[in-house]
Amino acid sequence: AALVVLVSGSGTNLQALLDACADPAYGARVVAVGADRDGIEGLARAERAGIPTFVVRLKEFETREEWDAALAGACAAYDPDIIVSAGFMKLLGSTFLARYGGKVLNTHPALSPSFPGMHGPADALAYGVKVTGATLFVVDPGVDTGPIVAQTAVAVAEDDTVETLHERIKVAERAMLVDSVGRLAREGFVVEGRRVRIGRLDP
Ligand code: GRF
Repeated sequence: AALVVLVSGSGTNLQALLDACADPAYGARVVAVGADRDGIEGLARAERAGIPTFVVRLKEFETREEWDAALAGACAAYDPDIIVSAGFMKLLGSTFLARYGGKVLNTHPALSPSFPGMHGPADALAYGVKVTGATLFVVDPGVDTGPIVAQTAVAVAEDDTVETLHERIKVAERAMLVDSVGRLAREGFVVEGRRVRIGRLDP
């Protein structure tokens, strides 16, 4: 399966996928890495791995829809089977999802449906939960609301800060992402309501 990975930051999730894809038995390869901003480590990681990159900057477009359509067009040039939003910090809009809906995966550093949005680790810490984690889901028009593929739990420590908690979540998040993306790539998947069914449906 061909993966396009979207990033906005350090790209450690991307790196975990790149490392996994080095083994042909993994069943997926990263064909391109896209970003919404320049100069980020995620893009540098792709370049070091010899993977093509593209940047689609929101400020270059009059409207959010035009940006969304341009991002979908940039992805389409690489004919992806699956798009992985791995620390991509912008919401994908209806134009993008009309084209790729059901094929876009995102990771969120909390156990959905708790703590959606940009501050999952901080919100979990502030609430005082003792267990949080990460969620892999199929993107829908909401904020971190899509059908869940996998979740992994992480205990909150007494002395955790937002940074220490997020770092521990990210370790679990990367392992979950690599496991699940490989399985989805090898076996195929389909979304039925809120269920993600893994496996080819043809008899
Ligand atoms: C991850 O925890 C992701 O879930 C969140 O931001 C982090 C991105 O990390 N949205 P990286 O860029 O993959 O290192």
